[in-house]
Amino acid sequence: MLSETLNRALSEQVNAEYYSAYLYQAMSAYADRAGFKGIANWLSIQAKEEMAHGVRIYEHILERGGSPSFNDIKAPPSSYNSVREVFEKVLAHEISVTARINQIASLSVQENDHAAYNFILWYVKEQVEEEKNAKDIIAKIAIMGDNTGLIYHLDMELAGRTFTDPFPVEAADTTAG
Ligand SMILES: [Fe+2]
Ligand SMILES: [Fe+2]
Repeated sequence: MLSETLNRALSEQVNAEYYSAYLYQAMSAYADRAGFKGIANWLSIQAKEEMAHGVRIYEHILERGGSPSFNDIKAPPSSYNSVREVFEKVLAHEISVTARINQIASLSVQENDHAAYNFILWYVKEQVEEEKNAKDIIAKIAIMGDNTGLIYHLDMELAGRTFTDPFPVEAADTTAG
């Protein structure tokens, strides 16, 4: 059974993951309208992943006998000046999400809730990946400078991203019976 404190922290994290999705969808709209369809694709898939992160936390709350609470999702900024600014904001946002996840991990330890701790470790690992992905793209943009031709090259690269469910149903489950 989840403690009240963890129930609240996890519910707030569901909200935060949905906000991430909303933020990245808004960034995707900016990229699309600026003509960067590949970058828009990457950000849109990122938004889908964030939704999946939120749903998985929501499921965990229910699995543990908790009660998810739902709050307003704030509006994300919708105007950006450049692709570089977008990815710098992605990185800054992911760093803030990492801090939130770490706080939930610490809270799980404090409350001696090993199940919650074990659950949130997936997110701890995921955040390392999320920050790295944003940093790698920013590094590429730094090399490209203001060369629009090179940015189009990045656009083509990011067009290749496809959505993979971060929580696929295990093969054993689908073949069982
Ligand atoms: Fe996430
Ligand atoms: Fe993320």
